Amino acid sequence: MPAIAVKGTHDILGKEADGYRYIERVFEAVAQLYGYQEFRIPTLEYTDVFNRSTGEGSDVVRKEMYTFLDKGNRSVTMRPEFTAGVARAIVEHKLYATEDLPIKCFYYGPVFRYERPQLGRYRQFHQAGVECIGVNSARFDAECICLAMQVLGMLGFKGLHLKINSLGDEASRKAYRDALKAYFAEHIDDMCADCHERLELNPMRILDCKVEHDQEIAKGAPKMKDYLSEESEKRFYQTLSILNDMDIEYEIDDSLVRGLDYYGEVVFEVHAISKTGADYGALLGGGHYDGLLEALGGPQMAGVGFAFGLERIYNVMKDDGLLDDLEEGLDIYVMPVGESVLDESFELVSAIRNMGYTCDSPLAAIKLGSQFKKAAKKKAHYALIVGEEELQRGVAQLKDLEKQEQKEISLENLEEELDSLFGEDEHEHHHHEE
Ligand code: HAM
Repeated sequence: MPAIAVKGTHDILGKEADGYRYIERVFEAVAQLYGYQEFRIPTLEYTDVFNRSTGEGSDVVRKEMYTFLDKGNRSVTMRPEFTAGVARAIVEHKLYATEDLPIKCFYYGPVFRYERPQLGRYRQFHQAGVECIGVNSARFDAECICLAMQVLGMLGFKGLHLKINSLGDEASRKAYRDALKAYFAEHIDDMCADCHERLELNPMRILDCKVEHDQEIAKGAPKMKDYLSEESEKRFYQTLSILNDMDIEYEIDDSLVRGLDYYGEVVFEVHAISKTGADYGALLGGGHYDGLLEALGGPQMAGVGFAFGLERIYNVMKDDGLLDDLEEGLDIYVMPVGESVLDESFELVSAIRNMGYTCDSPLAAIKLGSQFKKAAKKKAHYALIVGEEELQRGVAQLKDLEKQEQKEISLENLEEELDSLFGEDEHEHHHHEE
C-alpha cells in the first residue's frame, strides 16, 4: 500500500504553491500599505490560550481542536486560528505598553481544525489575516474591512458579497441572548442535538445551524438589530457610512453571528461563488472584539481583524482563471551537445543564474530532440545550445523558442545580450524590470 496524506490535509505542489505564494505576496503588500507588520507566532499554544479566548462556547474549541498532552504532560493545541495566539503574544511581550497603538500585525500559515472534510473544508488549511489592536474605533473597524476588500480587488475578484452585521456591546448581546433563549426554549424539542448544547452555551450559535429544519425555526427568531444599544447602533452606522464613502458595497445580514466567542460590535464575512458555480464557503471572516487581551491576562483593549482562507481564495481564483497568467516559464534552457561541453555548460548555467535569469539544463549530453521537449515542458523562452566547435570560438546558438528564430551570440557578451533580449519585452519578463 502506498502511503497517503492524513485525512483532511492536502499537498500544495509546484504550480499550485506558486498560486498560494502569489496570493500571500499580494496580501502582504496590501497589509504593508496599511501600516501592518508581520508577526510569526508558534503553531502550538497551550490549550488554555484558546479556551480562554476563542471560547468554550465555540464549535472550534468544543470539538475541532487538535489537542494533546506533550511528553511533559502539558495540554497543547495546534492552533485552530491566529487571533488568540497574536493576543497572547501581545500580552506576553507587553506590546500594548511599548508599541505605538494600535498594534497592526499581519500573519499567515497553517491552521488545524478537526472538521468533516468537504468542498472548501480541510483539517489542515491556511489562513492569512490581520489584527489591529489597542484603539477602539469604528474607523479602524472600517479600515480593516477596506484592507480585506482591497486585497481581493488586487487579486482580481469580481462579484463579491460582503456581509456585515453588528453583535453590539456586551449589554446588547446579553439582552439578545436572553431573547433567543426564550424563543428557542419553546422549539428546542424539535431541534438537533448540537442546538440543545448551543442553547445552554451560546444561543447565538443556533442561528448558524446548518440543519434545514433548525434553519426554518431560526427564521422566526428575534433579530439582533432590535437589541442593539443606542451606542452600538450609532457605531455600526458609523462603520457603514465609511464603507459607503469608500464605495464598498455590502449587505447587512442579520443572521451573521460568526463562530468564535470573542466578537462584539461589527462582524463581517466575504462570500463568492466561482464561475463553475462552486461555493467553497466564506473567503474570509472577521470582526471587532473587546475582551480578548483581558481574557489572556492583559489590559482591556479592543481590536479588529479578519482571516482569509487561502484554499478558498485559491480555488475560486483557479476556477475563475485568475491564476492563468502566473506561470512565467524559464528564461533560458542550456542545451549541451556532447559530453565534452558538460563542464563548460555547467559553468554557463551558473553564470546565467548569477546574472539573475532563471536557467536550467539537463546537465547531460542527451539527444537534442529530447532537450527541446524538456525545454517545452519547462515553458522555456530561449534555448542556449552549446556545441564543442562553437565553444572553441567563444560563441553559442541562442534560439527563441516561441518565434523559432536562432542566432549566434558571443559568450563574452552574454550578459548584455540577455539584458537587451529581456529588456525588450518587459511585459513577459516583469521580474527583470530594474
Ligand atoms: P474563521 O471564520 O473561523 O475566523 O476563519 C477564517 C476563514 O478561514 C474562513 O472564512 C474560511 O475562509 C477559512 N476556513 C475556516 N475553516 C476552514 C476549513 N476547515 N477549511 C478551509 N478553510 C477554512 C477566524 O479564524 C478568525 N480568527 C478571524 C479573525 C481574525 N477575526 C478577527 N481577527
